[in-house]
Amino acid sequence: MSNAKSLVVGNWKMNGLRKDLEEILTVAASIKNNPINGDVVICPPATLAALAVDAVIDFPISIGGQDCHAEEAGAYTGDISAEKWKDLGAEYVIVGHSERREYYREDNEVVNAKAKAVIRGGLIPVICIGESLEERKAGATLSVLSQQIRSCLPSEAKNYPIAIGYEPVWAIGSGLTPSAEEVGEAHAFIRSQLKEVIGSAGDITPILYGGSMKPSNAKEILSIDDVNGGLVGGASLKAKDFLQIIRSI
Ligand code: PGA
Repeated sequence: MSNAKSLVVGNWKMNGLRKDLEEILTVAASIKNNPINGDVVICPPATLAALAVDAVIDFPISIGGQDCHAEEAGAYTGDISAEKWKDLGAEYVIVGHSERREYYREDNEVVNAKAKAVIRGGLIPVICIGESLEERKAGATLSVLSQQIRSCLPSEAKNYPIAIGYEPVWAIGSGLTPSAEEVGEAHAFIRSQLKEVIGSAGDITPILYGGSMKPSNAKEILSIDDVNGGLVGGASLKAKDFLQIIRSI
């Protein structure tokens, strides 16, 4: 078992309108009334983030960004820097999500620069890694993870908190999940690689599982060694489902 704190991050992706802030408030109120032993973050779309920060100000829950630009400011239409997220009151930023890697061609180098920017901005990066189905079938899962960890983690991670999201790309939004053995193998391997790359900080870095986590499988997944929480997409949109997952840690 590692010494990492539990962390559950809800990634709303491009979903949610103002009326759905109610879901965030329901989660926040539940955690305030009945605290959990860990941290909870919701990453709504940028359009809702400022409203969400204000709504949860008195509650033990954080708001995060889903991505950021590596530069602090400048002529980058449509982009949001880590410093802007910080100014808003966010505390975490997801970087390197496989959807960013696939649709925006973000490679490990870009992910490293973004993670560095999040640290520079004073927030916690949730750095996503994970193998594709082809890579898993080819037996390349561990080498892909090792390469991603070595390339995506900035040197600052040796003495600054980060979190890792392990998301097998083929499990995201598909309803498919790896077996408990596969999850356990990947997380133990990620832990060992983190220790090699960032030393003792690797022992307290939360490693989150992501990819079709839902109320019905959360308990089993979250009980696996070195799984310190979840990065939850679809099942984070409804407070009822997300709370069941949160209550499984
Ligand atoms: P999912 O997404 O839970 O809907 O599979 C997870 C993620 O992409 O972070």
